[in-house]
Amino acid sequence: MDQPPEVPDSEPLAPIKLRRGAGVHIAPSLLAADFSHLRDSLQKAKAAGCRWMHLDIMDGHFVPNLTFGPSLLKSLADYSRDYFYDVHLMVDTPKMFVKPFADAGANLITFHVEAAEDTSRALLKSVRRLGAEAGISIKPKTPVGDIEALLPHVDVALVMTVEPGFGGQKLISSTLNKVRDLVRLREEQGLSFLIQVDGGINEETAPLAVAAGADVLVAGTAVFGGGKVRQNVRAMKKSLNRLHNGAESE
Ligand code: DX5
Ligand code: ZN
Repeated sequence: MDQPPEVPDSEPLAPIKLRRGAGVHIAPSLLAADFSHLRDSLQKAKAAGCRWMHLDIMDGHFVPNLTFGPSLLKSLADYSRDYFYDVHLMVDTPKMFVKPFADAGANLITFHVEAAEDTSRALLKSVRRLGAEAGISIKPKTPVGDIEALLPHVDVALVMTVEPGFGGQKLISSTLNKVRDLVRLREEQGLSFLIQVDGGINEETAPLAVAAGADVLVAGTAVFGGGKVRQNVRAMKKSLNRLHNGAESE
């Protein structure tokens, strides 16, 4: 039998708590990492203080691009348990992939309301039954009203701040109004889901997203760009602290 996978550091970190008030999370998006050095990317992001790893799953139908599947997540999760693995399903048939990703080690599984249609509520329940946190996402042109009824059943609401499919795009600033809407609805309904933004988040836009109410910032290019992960994350934290004094990043 093979040796157990080597663990990057001897000291496992305490598990991430999905709750508000724990500071702003910077969630590196693996899409922008060097796919020929994924262990290295995990180690670098961890050394930079990141604990939340975002995985973009694309099927070539829901979005015009392809990425990776559950077996890649399983390899990462076997290698390092120090991350909270966040699976962002950009697929036409999320129902088909929820169990394989939960079995592979996903801590959070988010799917798009545009893909799941009227099965969204049942699917959110099955995600939770499988032991993962459940997230719902909306594309830039989808109004918050389309997920309003689902909010009591989600742990994370993901607002796409670019059209899904590719990294390296510019944030669509009008999408931040949806973050503000979600903050208001969360307050009105007494809920506690986290608000996540994804796409075009960098030193300049991260403070705007946090000011709008985002709790989790997904960032690919801005974290892995140039391979200088520690410097990149430090720069983003600095920009957050300037605007939002006291915001802690993980
Ligand atoms: C886009 C993906 C994003 C992407 C973000 O469809 O959902 O997670 O990796 O990339 P950046 O941060 O480069 O805009
Ligand atoms: Zn994503």
